Amino acid sequence: MATIESVLHETRLFAPNDSFVSQANLLNEEACQALCREAEKDYLGFWGKLAQEHIQWHKPFTRVLDESNYPCFKWFDDGELNVSFNCLDRNLEANSDKIAIIFEADDGKVTRATYRDLHLQVCQFANGLRSLNIKKGDRLIIYMPMSIEAVVAMQACARIGAIHSVVFGGFSAKSLHERIVDTAAVAVITADEQRRGGKGIALKPVVDKAIEMGGGDSIKSVVIYKRTGQNIQWHNSRDVWWHDLVIDKSDYCEPEWVNAEHPLFILYTSGSTGKPKGIQHSSAGYLLGTMVSMKWIFDYKPTDIFWCTADVGWITGHSYVAYGPLAMGATQIVFEGVPTYPDAGRFWKIIQDHKITTFYTAPTAIRSLIKLGSELPREYDLSSLRLLGSVGEPINPEAWMWYYNVVGQSRCPIVDTWWQTETGCHMIAPVPGVRPLKPGSCTFPLPGIMAAIVDEAGHEVENGKGGLLVIKRPFPSLARTIWGNPERFRKTYFPDDLGGKYYLSGDSANCDLDGYFWIMGRIDDVLNISGHRLGTMEIESALVANHLVAEAAVVGKPHEIKGEVIVAFVVLKDACPQGEDAKKIAAELRNWVSKEIGPIAKPEEIRFGDNLPKTRSGKIMRRLLRAIARGEQITQDVSTLENPAILEQLKQSMA
Ligand code: WTA
Repeated sequence: MATIESVLHETRLFAPNDSFVSQANLLNEEACQALCREAEKDYLGFWGKLAQEHIQWHKPFTRVLDESNYPCFKWFDDGELNVSFNCLDRNLEANSDKIAIIFEADDGKVTRATYRDLHLQVCQFANGLRSLNIKKGDRLIIYMPMSIEAVVAMQACARIGAIHSVVFGGFSAKSLHERIVDTAAVAVITADEQRRGGKGIALKPVVDKAIEMGGGDSIKSVVIYKRTGQNIQWHNSRDVWWHDLVIDKSDYCEPEWVNAEHPLFILYTSGSTGKPKGIQHSSAGYLLGTMVSMKWIFDYKPTDIFWCTADVGWITGHSYVAYGPLAMGATQIVFEGVPTYPDAGRFWKIIQDHKITTFYTAPTAIRSLIKLGSELPREYDLSSLRLLGSVGEPINPEAWMWYYNVVGQSRCPIVDTWWQTETGCHMIAPVPGVRPLKPGSCTFPLPGIMAAIVDEAGHEVENGKGGLLVIKRPFPSLARTIWGNPERFRKTYFPDDLGGKYYLSGDSANCDLDGYFWIMGRIDDVLNISGHRLGTMEIESALVANHLVAEAAVVGKPHEIKGEVIVAFVVLKDACPQGEDAKKIAAELRNWVSKEIGPIAKPEEIRFGDNLPKTRSGKIMRRLLRAIARGEQITQDVSTLENPAILEQLKQSMA
């Protein structure tokens, strides 16, 4: 059976420093190994104990795992709880005056909400939703800017047992419409406008358009948070201002006690075959995953000031903005704006001003900040940082080194966290302070996560060989199904080829000889060059390791003899090169890759652009690049692209 070859050999090793080790939550390798052994020995006992320790149950569970409805597993399913109660009420006793959220607006204005404030706002808004006749099990769409109110809206849904589906505020009316129809939502919670980078971006008109596209009749109410006061069209039959809805509402809202398996939310993720999948998460299992990962991977301490830069429209913003930090009683930043406004020092200024201790962002943001130079971060006081995190894409070793040296000042461990919308929380990530880090490796599975690399028949491959990344046993935070389509869930994630028992992530990966995991890219993107199967990440990392290169993406293009050849799309740190210049640099880069990882990985063609096509969450869309490389028409919907104009430039580009 074919495996995937690993060609990148990273040898740098970064041992944890003593001051971090001495305070780490999972003190040392021994403690971490003990947890892993416990999980191996008594898997259900391990998770059952964690669930008892971390969650406040209204009615305790007696059964840990029910596999009878495979692969829609049930965890703790005769227990009852309320997620909002666990995030808010539980913190009132000891932490009511502690700041829960520091909100920094696009224009720099700062608003703070304590746990008491947040509890009050959530209760009033939840009562408001109930007054609109919204009940347990109803679906609501949240289409909001990053704001305290967005978190309040999500928590209020959880409080009354309504199922939210957050749609990223940059998505089009068409995407919004699809999600309204698929969930048959009864309400949309939105704002008049959002502000990003000094500009106002309309939200409410997009909602109106989406509802009026047909099939949106399920929507009975639209609740509008007044963010800027921009004029909006008003529909008496369904529109209500947020501030009017809460004005006379009681400051306490009795939580709806729900079953552990009650769906907390649906979040759409774009499958590679077009139609987005409504990933449905549970209440208890999901909450537990966010909490243990906060503790183990973010080494959470009550004194931390936590900042996850992800929008609540993504899973990262669900798990590490709206739920995980609150469930742990943390103080966190919610930021409305963009990293480059009013200038490219914005992230560093926020870290300095709010004395952030834990900073969690995406490789795409890191790479774009690298492009702006190392001087900028050095102008700010980043000494409060103690831990850095990365998520969303493989972080190329050179980007890792920059993050480590320039942002973390060689002091802060980096937790490169591999996980997915479907997994709910971190799956493979370093427990900081425990083991040495390798730049570009997400290191080891969390205790209790049985990750492995297998070939296409489901057999585990030996260390050093690449294959399919799977998780061998169900775990509490795993998605329960695809909304309305359990069959697609089974086929996509528990395919028969693998014996139907492993969760298939869709990523390729390898374990090195020390057992460290390396993500190699999506399986769909694997290249086949003269019979060698190569992941995208390693070749891209070799390109990014060249001092001229800021970002790179590689794709395959059919070739009569070799099967496929590599086409690389490259963004330089300097301006996009033209003519002879481009030819010279392309030749240099082809040789560079050949020298770094071998002639087999040498790109046949290199094309330059000012940027790469990315999703709104910053992932490179290699599918589109593949079409460009092959000279094919782009037939996919490109409305969800961050920067559609870049496609034209890349089409014209030929080195
Ligand atoms: C990729 C985001 C390498 C991977 C939490 C995965 C990563 C997909 C990493 C899920 C990482 C995420 N290293 N690749 N640390 N984190 N990915 O659903 O391909 O938006 O399958 O969830 O992002 O993206 P999603």
